Amino acid sequence: MSAGWGLRTRLVHGGQRRSPLGETCEALWLTSGFTYAQAEDAEGRFADRLPGFMYSRVGNPTVRTFEERMMLLEGAEEAAATATGMAAVNAALMCQLRAGARVVAARCLFGSCHYILTEILPRFGVEVVLVDGRDLDAWRRALSRRTDAVFLETPGNPTLELVDIAGVAELAHAAGARVIVDNVFATPILQRPLPLGADIVVYSATKHIDGQGRCLGGVVLCDAAFKRDLLQPYLKHTGPALSPFNAWTLTKGLETLDLRVREHVRSAEAIARFLEQHPRVEGVLYPGLDSHPQRALAKRQMSAGGGLVAFRVGGGRERAFAVVNRLKLIAISNNLGDAKSLATHPASTTHSRIPESERQELGITEDLIRLSVGLEDVEDLMADLNQALRG
Ligand SMILES: Cc1ncc(COP(=O)(O)O)c(C=O)c1O
Repeated sequence: MSAGWGLRTRLVHGGQRRSPLGETCEALWLTSGFTYAQAEDAEGRFADRLPGFMYSRVGNPTVRTFEERMMLLEGAEEAAATATGMAAVNAALMCQLRAGARVVAARCLFGSCHYILTEILPRFGVEVVLVDGRDLDAWRRALSRRTDAVFLETPGNPTLELVDIAGVAELAHAAGARVIVDNVFATPILQRPLPLGADIVVYSATKHIDGQGRCLGGVVLCDAAFKRDLLQPYLKHTGPALSPFNAWTLTKGLETLDLRVREHVRSAEAIARFLEQHPRVEGVLYPGLDSHPQRALAKRQMSAGGGLVAFRVGGGRERAFAVVNRLKLIAISNNLGDAKSLATHPASTTHSRIPESERQELGITEDLIRLSVGLEDVEDLMADLNQALRG
């Protein structure tokens, strides 16, 4: 029945399993374990002969509702929820890699993804090659050898540069690699990596999926064989399970995701245009602006530019700090995708671990501010930005 549902219907009803009590809202099964009427039932469930839940590290009905709703949203055969977005990224990589494996990744990455790729994986004998994700020729050169996995974020954090998902997927598949896309900045509403050729999509559900700054969560979307053979055993035995309470919160977040993302985009577009014309701003990075260097690609693979805007204020760290310190309505925070607008100085926070020279190459300059546009009245946000920039 759900196959024919429209997007909003899937987001409101997908995966709901009503108990005999007939509750309207999704039930919250806040339990660590499950009981069995008889020993044979336990034996059957452990042997995968009988359906049913055994232990919430392995599966839980509330968590499954969240997974099924995400599958319907993304058009994926399977999903596995995790405690955080980083647990999703880590599991998607670690479950399929072994010593001697090779990974090619776009270099514009969230700091913790950068750490997994450049610090953790090499410790276990995995070769990792970072490329300029905007440059298809760089991908072509790096993927001229057999490769096991490709990892990319698009738009990337924090400079909002893009990667051509379809172009990279074609090269990656020819090299024997699975393509993992971290789709956090685009959200599942604005960009669909699977039809473009990605094999695996990961989210920090902490961001727009919750959307109200309440809880952490993550999810991996993939095909059924990948989940059964690689991901599920890895998750089951290493244990980064999503709490049922957080799964319930995220499921309720999905009900309004489409509405919220459209509002985030409407305000972000207006703010990007406002900043672009502001005399005290030196540059704006936003995939929805005609001035974005990859605007044509943005139009091809995204339905809108997203809810994040990055801009340069000139004058280095001192001026960037002065601007964010003057903000009254917009809060200073490293989170994003919240109903509340949040400003980040990536060079001193989310990307501070990356060496200065690499940050320069990536365009993460000292005067760069990343703004996650919230759901407030856009005129109030512009007034706050204006007074902070002019002060
Ligand atoms: C692009 C991206 N990927 C992954 C993560 C990690 O998510 P989480 O904080 O839920 O672990 C974040 C943010 O923190 C992010 O911005």
